[in-house]
Amino acid sequence: MSQYILYCRAGFENDCAAEIQYKASEAGLYGFCRTQPNQAYVEFELTQPSDACLFNQIKLDELIFSRQWFKVIAKLEGMSESDRITPIIESVLGHEFCELKLEYPDTNSGKEIAGFAKKFTVPLRQALKKNLLINEQANHVLHLFMFSSTQMILGKSLKNNASELLNGIRRLKFPADGPSRSTLKLEEAFHHFIPKSEWDDRLRPGLNAVDLGAAPGGWTYQLVRKGMMVSAIDNGPMADSLMETGQVKHFKEDGFKYQPKKHNVYWLVCDMVEKPSRVAKLMVKWLINGWCEEAIFNLKLPMKQRFQNVMQVLEDAEAQLYQAGIQTEIRAKHLYHDREEITCLFRRIR
Ligand SMILES: C[S@@+](CC[C@H](N)C(=O)[O-])C[C@H]1O[C@@H](n2cnc3c(N)ncnc32)[C@H](O)[C@@H]1O
Repeated sequence: MSQYILYCRAGFENDCAAEIQYKASEAGLYGFCRTQPNQAYVEFELTQPSDACLFNQIKLDELIFSRQWFKVIAKLEGMSESDRITPIIESVLGHEFCELKLEYPDTNSGKEIAGFAKKFTVPLRQALKKNLLINEQANHVLHLFMFSSTQMILGKSLKNNASELLNGIRRLKFPADGPSRSTLKLEEAFHHFIPKSEWDDRLRPGLNAVDLGAAPGGWTYQLVRKGMMVSAIDNGPMADSLMETGQVKHFKEDGFKYQPKKHNVYWLVCDMVEKPSRVAKLMVKWLINGWCEEAIFNLKLPMKQRFQNVMQVLEDAEAQLYQAGIQTEIRAKHLYHDREEITCLFRRIR
């Protein structure tokens, strides 16, 4: 039997649990979850022989509601404040790690441990090195998932199947001239869905973009910043600073009815507050009609069974695109800057 810890946004534990159980059983792996409301993580226990491993069957990238994960090595409680290092070293003897991550749940109490975690990293890394437990060529990352300075879960993740970010969170600075905090959602989506090596092609200056539900302009701001020309669709007002760039045309129209006049739009982005199935259908329509090459959009999830709802919506979209003969990359993630929503990418593959 092996245990895994999956990190998620507080309040999304049931979705994270439902998803990992679904994905694991799809991969022929069975287990059960333990979780508590608002603890910002889920424990998944595989009831399989110990050589079965989630990391070989599932990619973190395929999971919508999990930001980070690791396989449990040991649970340490009631550690002595005068020597935390010895029990940690003893628990991980026999393993080799390329890296060390001191992490904590994304909750208010979790954040209180951040200062200690930072301070503890250097002495712990030195002790691991001294005991020959750090090897840059190794495949595993050591995680200390800390609840306090004396209570933590130790575990390991596979370097190429885990988030490289601490706590699985991408911290972004709000730009001083950004028209709304929503701007960070699209910036994070660019980082998450588009490899840096492809930015020069897929986010290049001169591309045309359409922003549905654009006001006051946080998402348009990101596109303008990349040098794109943007048609912003919204009855609400757009920030003057954006209109002054000369890169934005504002259309006071219904985003569900708007149609581009020319077939020269590369990006469609959409942050309209609407039923997920309606938004996804609209994105599918744009791709099938050849009105855009890629779409990034939010699905708002005010309902209870968020995972089940999202699965249904994405499966329907995939089926419609498949029937229309449109090969599409479909990705979805509950990003750090998302709240009651997830962000999706549909990309036409030519
Ligand atoms: C969450 S806000 C968008 C925020 C924007 N992405 C930003 O970063 O500033 C949603 C917007 O969608 C617009 N909206 C909702 N339904 C719409 C529709 N059918 N057509 C056009 N805009 C719509 C609203 O007017 C609102 O401005």
